[in-house]
Amino acid sequence: MTRRPVLRVRRLSKTFTLHLRGGLQLPVLRDVSLDVHAGECVALVGPSGQGKSTLMKCLHGSYGADSGEIVLRRADGSEIDLAAAAPQQVLQLRRREMAYVSQFLRVVPRVPALDVVAERVLDASGADGEGEAREAARDRARALLSRLNLPGGLWQLPPATFSGGEQQRVNIARGFVQPATLLLLDEPTASLDAANRRVVIELIAEAKARGAAVVGIFHDEEVRDAVATRCVSMVGGTAKEGLQ
Ligand SMILES: Nc1ncnc2c1ncn2[C@@H]1O[C@H](COP(=O)(O)OP(=O)(O)OP(=O)(O)O)[C@@H](O)[C@H]1O
Ligand SMILES: [Mg+2]
Repeated sequence: MTRRPVLRVRRLSKTFTLHLRGGLQLPVLRDVSLDVHAGECVALVGPSGQGKSTLMKCLHGSYGADSGEIVLRRADGSEIDLAAAAPQQVLQLRRREMAYVSQFLRVVPRVPALDVVAERVLDASGADGEGEAREAARDRARALLSRLNLPGGLWQLPPATFSGGEQQRVNIARGFVQPATLLLLDEPTASLDAANRRVVIELIAEAKARGAAVVGIFHDEEVRDAVATRCVSMVGGTAKEGLQ
């Protein structure tokens, strides 16, 4: 018997209504269906503006879908349809089951880089964030930030003034510090140098090996070839198996 996929997307559709343009309708996703199994990394490929990032944001619950299903199998085996989930449920899934790494870090003012990463561990565990739990979370954050070659002098500083590549590494550390059932990566290596791209390739390989389902957009072909088990091409708002 084949195991159920971690992510099962069925007939997902999304149209943007541009209110400032007289209510113009922009259909971006049309009947997208996609299965992603544990240990798989599906790369979304296709020209600019075809809905790749929009699909990722729907999978993360940032955009609501107009119709269709996004069924996620949680680590405990239970399933939930994200497209129909209440906002509180989506937030809980983000804390415990899903990680989303985009090209840009959304920084919280005044929080040091180390805690931006460590908070993710504390949020997932539900710990109050004091004492031993915080130190253990910081240890994990330190290990990952040093693996990503972020200079130790920056760890105690808020990332707001970091360079693009430094911010991106904080973002990646935040995405990978807590094992996720579903990992969503939107151009995670866009501002990285070759050495750090290799670290990200290793991190993705490790996530796959422990059974995460990964969906990613990788414009860097070297990264894509190294991590993708399969490519799905997005054209005209629909998803097709294979490279276009
Ligand atoms: N919040 C929004 N409101 C209105 N239109 C949007 C919104 N988000 C995306 N779009 C439109 O949806 C289309 C798809 O955008 P999307 O960002 O998903 O493309 P993409 O495939 O990720 O492109 P790229 O490769 O350039 O990142 C674009 O035409 C974009 O203008
Ligand atoms: Mg995009």
